Amino acid sequence: MPVQPRKFMEITDTNYNNAHQFQALFNYATIGIVVTNHTGEIINFNSYAESQFGYPKAEVIGKTVEVLLPAAVHKTHVNHREQYYRDPAPRSMGHGRDLYAQKKDGSTFPVEVSLSHYAVNNQIFVIAFVIDITVRKSHESMMLEQTRELERVSTEVKKLNADLEQKVADRTKMLREALTELEHSKEELSVALDTEKELSELKSRFVTMASHEFRTPLSTILSSTYLLEKYLGDDQNPKTEKHLQRIRGAVAGMKNILEDFLSLGKLEEGLVQTRMEHIPAGTLEKMLTELLQEFEPMLLPGQKLQLISKVDCAVYTDVQLLRNILINLVSNAIKFSPSQVPIIITASTSDNVLEISVQDQGIGISVDDQQHLFERFFRAKNAANIQGTGLGLHIISRYLDLLKGTIRLKSALNQGSTFTITLPNNQMQ
Ligand SMILES: Nc1ncnc2c1ncn2[C@@H]1O[C@H](COP(=O)(O)OP(=O)(O)O)[C@@H](O)[C@H]1O
Ligand SMILES: [Mg+2]
Repeated sequence: MPVQPRKFMEITDTNYNNAHQFQALFNYATIGIVVTNHTGEIINFNSYAESQFGYPKAEVIGKTVEVLLPAAVHKTHVNHREQYYRDPAPRSMGHGRDLYAQKKDGSTFPVEVSLSHYAVNNQIFVIAFVIDITVRKSHESMMLEQTRELERVSTEVKKLNADLEQKVADRTKMLREALTELEHSKEELSVALDTEKELSELKSRFVTMASHEFRTPLSTILSSTYLLEKYLGDDQNPKTEKHLQRIRGAVAGMKNILEDFLSLGKLEEGLVQTRMEHIPAGTLEKMLTELLQEFEPMLLPGQKLQLISKVDCAVYTDVQLLRNILINLVSNAIKFSPSQVPIIITASTSDNVLEISVQDQGIGISVDDQQHLFERFFRAKNAANIQGTGLGLHIISRYLDLLKGTIRLKSALNQGSTFTITLPNNQMQ
């Protein structure tokens, strides 16, 4: 409980002496002062002590000092004070312990007490200076509470931090494991890929080799057929003629298959290179006419190849590759068209491009099948009964890559097909 400041006592010249000075000091001190004799009786009690303890001075004078202490410490205090009287010295009281004093109303309050003494006629008197430390104590306990809270928070933060570190360590471990696994599967995949590549190379080398080896016996079959025809002369049986014709047809079909295999083999080995040359407009038209003539023996009755040429400038291209592309497109048009309908080949030049289209009125290609047309060995469902390898269009697309050209298709099932190739025709190339 805060103590009310008291009015300063006026000191005049007449009463100015030592006794007064001491009295003023004693009564106006802002600290409680309790004086006891050797039996512990209170013999003096200043005004500040009155307000601290709630006792009027008269009420405590003559009582032992324990009246100002909680009952629980009375006994020990008597011992302490007797000890002090035996060996008095100025010191603070209750070192290392919390001291409590008791007011008249029985309430207690924390105090700090320092002791001193004096002697009069061999009698020792003890002076106790009492400070109420309630406010300081509550600050201290607040600070203690805050320190504890701080410690608790810091422990929690430390724990969170440790948890987090553990989590990071776990995740890092998991990540590392996943990475190792990934690395492992990458290696496995790479081995599998190498094996696959090796196998595929082996296959295509075998196909190329086999195709080469088949060429000679096929030529022998073909030439022997001609010789047989010749030896038999005019008087041959119509059935013999029919069979010789079949042999020639079968050999021609096989030759086409071998040509496809050989072309693909060369492409995959990277052996096909472009040889660009300038071709005057007229020469290209002549070349196309001659090429179409080569197809005459293959045409079905009534089938007709019609060339519409609008080539009005020179062309810069690889003649051999262009020829191969057109042979494939025209032979497809013939193969997949019925008799009695024309096949129209249109060639034109414009805006630095050469465009050639092959249009037939044959079986057409479904939208679904059109997606896969340029894949190796792909054949549309409606072509199952017509001979072929499914390599021709793939080879065309590879040649067009080399020539930096494109191909597009317009077709619908049973409504014919138009394949159009577009090649750059820049004279400055
Ligand atoms: N003019 C066409 N008319 C209809 N279908 C075609 C035509 N050209 C190509 N196709 C379809 O595309 C497939 C692939 O053609 P291609 O690669 O030349 O193989 P192939 O001629 O050996 O069958 C053919 O099997 C056929 O189904
Ligand atoms: Mg073909």
